[in-house]
Amino acid sequence: MDTVLSGIRPTGHLHLGNYFGAVRSFVKMQNEYNCYFFIADWHSLTTHPTPKNIQNSTRTILAEYLACGLDPEKATIYIQSDVVETIELYLYLNMNTYLGELGRVTTFKEKARQQPDNVNAGLFTYPTLMAADILQHRAKWVPVGKDQEQNMEMARKCARRFNNIYKTDLFPEPQNYYFGAEALKVPGLDGSGKMGKSDGNCIYLCDEEKVVRKKVMRAVTDNGPQSPNSEKPEVIANLFKMMSIVSSADTLQYFEEKWNDCTLRYGDMKKQLAEDMVNVLNPIRERILEFSSDPARLDKIAAAGAMKARESASATLKEVRRTIGFRVY
Ligand code: TRP
Repeated sequence: MDTVLSGIRPTGHLHLGNYFGAVRSFVKMQNEYNCYFFIADWHSLTTHPTPKNIQNSTRTILAEYLACGLDPEKATIYIQSDVVETIELYLYLNMNTYLGELGRVTTFKEKARQQPDNVNAGLFTYPTLMAADILQHRAKWVPVGKDQEQNMEMARKCARRFNNIYKTDLFPEPQNYYFGAEALKVPGLDGSGKMGKSDGNCIYLCDEEKVVRKKVMRAVTDNGPQSPNSEKPEVIANLFKMMSIVSSADTLQYFEEKWNDCTLRYGDMKKQLAEDMVNVLNPIRERILEFSSDPARLDKIAAAGAMKARESASATLKEVRRTIGFRVY
């Protein structure tokens, strides 16, 4: 069974875009792969050195992951900072990674521009920590977005280089995993192509019913259809796209027809869209509340996940130490 690994930084909440773009697919993958899902709290120190309440932020994401259906019985769900083994591998990988290649990573250059007073070594070596996350479990597949492709290229380079330098085939080269058609791109409420973390643009899984309705009713639209069967401008196409994701085929068709004969009223359409969205979100939000009201249970789940993750990481590290020539204990 191939190993899959995915990491998420504990900033904020999961939104509908995360859900339909990835998390829903993780739920299926846990039946077909040896899955590791972890929360990258160390990585968040690269930009936020003094996090306000890092354990709470981490529990928030954990509760939301579990509410979506990630199952600690099927997958290894853990918190990065619980697995200290990762740091040892990070150290070895750093010894064979060069300033030039790390300096060319665009996310580093961007962050360096955004936080000129804090261009720290952790930020610089973000890709090698990410490589250690992946390689410690010898993961074959990593589902990531476009913005992580360069980091994935670095992870492959780390694997390849380690294997070459120490004449071993310990590390498989991790590949980007693309969900294909089942990953749905949820558009933003502000008319932008993609739902992202900003209040005017996104619906969080934990948003209350009335918040969801309010946000949908405020979604950007235009003056309405002007001539029969015309092409939809992007903002309107977005509304239809959202409807295709959360509503039934009949509902979608009803509003398509209204658009085509120029009788569509956006208010009606948004009301229906909000209704269908609320129906998708309600059971998820209820589970989020259930999990987040029980931090002790969350901590127990995290502890069990950490144990499984450490077992896998220490098996790899043992091989790494033996291969480089260190004592194995
Ligand atoms: N860099 C990823 C992001 O910002 C988070 C991450 C950290 C990650 N380590 C990882 C993703 C390992 C996949 C695998 O989205």
